[in-house]
Amino acid sequence: MLDEKASKILICDDIAENRKLLASTIQRYTQYEIVITSEGHNVVEMAEQILPDVILLDIMMPGMDGFEVNKQLKENPATAHIPIIFITALGDTDSKVKAFENGGADYISKPFSPKEVIVRIKNQIRLSQLMNHLEETVKQRTQELESLNYALVLALENANYYNDTETGGHIHRVKYYSSILAKSMNLPDRDVEVISRYAPLHDIGKVGIPHTILKKEAKLTLEEFAKIKEHSYIGYKIIDLPGIPSAAKNIVYYHHEKWDGSGYPGGLKGESIPIEARIVALADVYDALRSERPYKKPYSEEESVKIIEDSSGTHFDPAIIQAFLDNRAKFNEIFNSLSQLEALSKE
Ligand SMILES: [Fe+2]
Repeated sequence: MLDEKASKILICDDIAENRKLLASTIQRYTQYEIVITSEGHNVVEMAEQILPDVILLDIMMPGMDGFEVNKQLKENPATAHIPIIFITALGDTDSKVKAFENGGADYISKPFSPKEVIVRIKNQIRLSQLMNHLEETVKQRTQELESLNYALVLALENANYYNDTETGGHIHRVKYYSSILAKSMNLPDRDVEVISRYAPLHDIGKVGIPHTILKKEAKLTLEEFAKIKEHSYIGYKIIDLPGIPSAAKNIVYYHHEKWDGSGYPGGLKGESIPIEARIVALADVYDALRSERPYKKPYSEEESVKIIEDSSGTHFDPAIIQAFLDNRAKFNEIFNSLSQLEALSKE
């Protein structure tokens, strides 16, 4: 909270007698620091430099009038928040309405009572302090909720890691590949963040698949494969909660859809598959191709790229394949560096 001594008041009036009267009134009743100018155009620059807590602004001045000064202050993000109290001889309703419509905080008609001026200044300072406190509290609570959300996603990610046959390395690499593709597809920052955060949960539904099937090394029967496919729906049911972004649910539910409509669970085609699911689908397959699994050797970078390129328009969205090819070197770097980290952590 600001204390009274720290508060600064900027006074702008073209008439010396008014400036003197306002300044002496404030000095008599408060310990506020006072800065004075007689010209409207000075206020814009001075306000940005000294950031006063309140501006007392005359309306009728030669050169730049009070309404124009107010407009310029409101257009500048650095000064837009400073409360402006218009002090003027204009007593007509239109001027008052115009002052408030333009974002003026208060309006005092001349001749004024000194005590009224002080009370109105104090009110504005108090309101600013409350607003700052409120904004700070909201910011802090939002950060706390973000941290909690992040921790819960990590907890789910860990549960997935301990249950799944996939490694933690795969889960993390899919996160980074997906983030690169989302950025390359020029998605808004918030969408990139959501995709990056929830991509690691794409296979969370495997917690609902029996281990005898999930960890089976021999070829799966048709019935067993049908059971595995249920992980999309199970995952969706796990995270289908208020507050979880729809993009997260789409990733979990649709990441096995294919561009030509031959995927599951919905057999969706083309752009009817949500873009976040199309992105994670490619990221997931790229990493699976490059990784060694009980039932397959790892493919080289060149072989993996070739397989993905050959799936353009069948398995994958051609636009996302292009984004992948544009970032091929980054994908390779992520695979190599995170795989090395994973190997080191097992030693
Ligand atoms: Fe999956």
